Amino acid sequence: MHFLTLKELSGDEILKTIKKAVEMKKNPKKYYNKLTNKTLAMIFQKTSTRTRISFESAMTQLGGHAQYLDWRTTNFTLGSLKDEVKCIARYVDVIMARVYKHEDVAAMAEASRVPVINGLCDKYHPCQAMADLMTVYEKFGKLKGIKLAYVGDGNNVCNTLIIGCAKTGMEIRVATPKGYEPLAEVVKYAQDQKNGKVILSNDYKQAVKGADVVYTDTWISMGQEADSKKRMDDFKGWTVNPEMMKLTNNAYFMHCLPAHRGYEVSDEVLDSERSIVYDQARNRLDVQKAILLMCLGVK
Ligand code: CP
Ligand code: NVA
Repeated sequence: MHFLTLKELSGDEILKTIKKAVEMKKNPKKYYNKLTNKTLAMIFQKTSTRTRISFESAMTQLGGHAQYLDWRTTNFTLGSLKDEVKCIARYVDVIMARVYKHEDVAAMAEASRVPVINGLCDKYHPCQAMADLMTVYEKFGKLKGIKLAYVGDGNNVCNTLIIGCAKTGMEIRVATPKGYEPLAEVVKYAQDQKNGKVILSNDYKQAVKGADVVYTDTWISMGQEADSKKRMDDFKGWTVNPEMMKLTNNAYFMHCLPAHRGYEVSDEVLDSERSIVYDQARNRLDVQKAILLMCLGVK
């Protein structure tokens, strides 16, 4: 199966995959031979620290191998995207791709005869959302009923969290400046799940009040650099800082990283004992192992 948006999984399947990842984290040796002789191709149009390294280590620890492919040094720049993917799919067992436009990773999935995993596009970041939900699950022992406030840009990370929270019975309150709301189609899809609760506003105080988790992300995602000045102006006053955290239910702080200290989050919050950003980063490794097994149909 392909894994592009997180819409592919039901709430129960998300929880099952998270539980599997928790198990794999506890007993890594049990899974050392699960993907022996399997190869993952990792195609990157954009830069990465966590996604690249965690996927590569995941494949090593599962007994397989990962190939890092920088877009600019491949012939994707010369040939048609679908032709190139059809060839890659004849050499490897699974593909992970980080692209600018969602349409590119969707086209890869259409052309590929092996599973394609979205390693971030302009609309979604499903592997991140799975690691985030795994981290919430580890901290609270459940997902249902947990209140997560997402403060900042309604971007790829936010869109995918909305899907994941709604499917697993969480309450997600999204507060953005006007004009930076998450995708309307995603909000509608999540509300139609009739499980969790999705609340949108332009008022971060309302969103974080009594929240169990506060989450933020960069104000300028990769590919949006040309709008930097306008974005910096529009997000003024939206920094997650100790005053904002005081309004919460002693919330954990989450961020997918990389963080821009002093912009979307202050040093005090990022370095506080309620910050669980490195747990989130760590869980990318474990949850992606579970995602790889799921996509390849390996138990
Ligand atoms: N959170 C995340 O995806 O990090 P990278 O961009 O470094 O891969
Ligand atoms: N929203 C950010 C996430 C980086 C992991 C971006 O797309 O650049």
